[in-house]
Amino acid sequence: MGRLKDLRALVDEKLKTIDDAKRISATVHLYGVSLAATLIAEKRGLDQELCAMAAMLHDMHAYLSGSYDDHAHKGAKLAEEILAELNQTTEEETACICSMIYHHDDKEVIDSDYDEVLKDADVIHHCFNDLSKPIKAKEQQRYDALRAEFGLQ
Ligand SMILES: [Fe+2]
Ligand SMILES: [Fe+2]
Repeated sequence: MGRLKDLRALVDEKLKTIDDAKRISATVHLYGVSLAATLIAEKRGLDQELCAMAAMLHDMHAYLSGSYDDHAHKGAKLAEEILAELNQTTEEETACICSMIYHHDDKEVIDSDYDEVLKDADVIHHCFNDLSKPIKAKEQQRYDALRAEFGLQ
């Protein structure tokens, strides 16, 4: 098995502790953001596997704790622990993944190229999961930029 597949199995296992409805929406979001992160990374010439792995972990703290309070920063720490358990990433890769998670809620500022992939992938899933829903004000600028980047009208 590849390490993305192994990480997904580990995430699936950890999500078994939460109730059905929450587990389904958590799974849909994590896998959705992971797919979006892969596409964005490919488009920008970045490592798609690292981006997909960061996406699989990015909201885990919120799902497992039941609170979004400071979930990005706390989630970076949790991701470090889960990656240590996975034991398939180098120190640099772990640092890159944790940085993406640490910054992912800072949608209104620009961080590193990798950090930006996760922010944009999160916005893609929030917006494209149901196009009938209004776009949140804090995501509008990224959403418009992503549509332009992918050549959508
Ligand atoms: Fe989040
Ligand atoms: Fe998210």
